[in-house]
Amino acid sequence: MTGVQALGPFITFEGVDGSGKTTQLHYLAERLRAAGEAVTETREPGGTALGNQLRQLLLEPSPEPIVPQAELAMMFAARAQNCERVIQPARRRGEWVLCDRFTDASLAYQGAGRGVARATILTLHELLCPGCRPDLTLILDVEPRLSLERARKRLHRAGSSEGRFEAEGAAFFERVRAAYHNLARLEPERCRLIETAAPELEVAERIWHEVARAMAGRQPLAFRKTS
Ligand code: TMP
Repeated sequence: MTGVQALGPFITFEGVDGSGKTTQLHYLAERLRAAGEAVTETREPGGTALGNQLRQLLLEPSPEPIVPQAELAMMFAARAQNCERVIQPARRRGEWVLCDRFTDASLAYQGAGRGVARATILTLHELLCPGCRPDLTLILDVEPRLSLERARKRLHRAGSSEGRFEAEGAAFFERVRAAYHNLARLEPERCRLIETAAPELEVAERIWHEVARAMAGRQPLAFRKTS
């Protein structure tokens, strides 16, 4: 039997460490739930048991330097698991999926940050996460100089050892930020650059507005053929 099934909206949050994206993701999730929507929140690396094990390997200090290709492969192992086990099933149930980082983070961090070719990253995405593409990507923009200070303090307060990326220098994060700006220029239909200098609730309001605008043109939801 052939039928059509609505896929729930898939929204990703991106930005340099300490940009406030996780807080904003929670605000949006709560507001959507208050409006009666079903929402799945996930993150990368993470989102599944395997993803969380990989997260630990990726973010905690390593006994030996992790080469960029190995780092990228682990990010994609976590992502493939998250797509198959969490993101796509939730979307097939018609839920909204909000994901804290996705493949754009690999383009920004492993690509621009570490020098891995963009084509390699996009090829891995096509091979390992076919059909899993965000409808909307919110890039929270902030000067790394300000946000990293925040991110490092937060890790310290929480007694967290997840600081392998936060230990990178200023030039690394400038490349990451430039990559996000470039992405917003390259894909304006999917990506929105969100200025974060305003108070948190104002930023949340701007995000709500962007989501409403992006999703208004999406009725009925994207249709997927099933058999
Ligand atoms: P976060 O979940 O606190 O944002 O931390 C995740 C860290 O992992 C962050 O420093 C960015 C990094 N990262 C990558 O380098 N590549 C990726 O593909 C993803 C998802 C995250």
